[in-house]
Amino acid sequence: MVNGATEPATHGHRLFAATYDWLNRSVERRVLGPMRSALVGGATGRVLEIGAGTGANFPYYEPARVTSVVAIEPDPYMIRRALKRATAARANVEVRQLSAERLPFPDATFDTVLATLVLCTVADPDRALREMRRVLVPDGSLRFIEHVRAPGGLAALIQDTLTPLWRRVGAGCHLNRRTVEAIEAAGFEIVELEVRHFRYSPTHTLVAGIARSRLTPGPSPSPGS
Ligand SMILES: C[S@@+](CC[C@H](N)C(=O)[O-])C[C@H]1O[C@@H](n2cnc3c(N)ncnc32)[C@H](O)[C@@H]1O
Repeated sequence: MVNGATEPATHGHRLFAATYDWLNRSVERRVLGPMRSALVGGATGRVLEIGAGTGANFPYYEPARVTSVVAIEPDPYMIRRALKRATAARANVEVRQLSAERLPFPDATFDTVLATLVLCTVADPDRALREMRRVLVPDGSLRFIEHVRAPGGLAALIQDTLTPLWRRVGAGCHLNRRTVEAIEAAGFEIVELEVRHFRYSPTHTLVAGIARSRLTPGPSPSPGS
């Protein structure tokens, strides 16, 4: 279902939504599908999915592990597609039109927060991450797949140069966000991280991982301190 009462003012990206699955079909089959299967398949309990898009993760939720999924997404054109996948999903998935920066849920509501290919796009990723941490139970986990800024060199320079144009054609997507660092700065500790590089792709560096809340927010202490 879509909860209209909390609808943010958004006009959405009709063309981006209409072409998203088609444009991604090859990378989905080769790369993202297996990554989603592992990461989403491990989600447990009450799940909050951030920026669900067309619902590409929905088929991977395991009903035996997941109690319920609340999938938030601000773009009405994406939501239209996500609703079809929610109906077909094996787990109980509710789609709500919301933005990650202001989550209308009490503290410690969810056991798992899932974010895939979304922190590149949200307007204020630091605020969104703080909200994700707030709504997670203290021993809950943030599971993520994100493309991030390349570690340096020509790839990072190309990403910095391309990002202003990329944002316009990619519905706000940034090629060059330092998302792993942002996750840590929001008070999470990364407990698993897989990093993959795709040499000839603008989304050169893809990370997948699991993070848990640290007891106190802020960056991890450096070794030896
Ligand atoms: C590249 S798509 C990824 C969709 C999906 N998570 C996936 O893995 O295929 C990014 C999504 O983030 C959504 N988004 C943008 N700003 C957002 C925000 N502030 N809060 C939540 N989602 C947002 C977009 O509407 C879009 O559907």
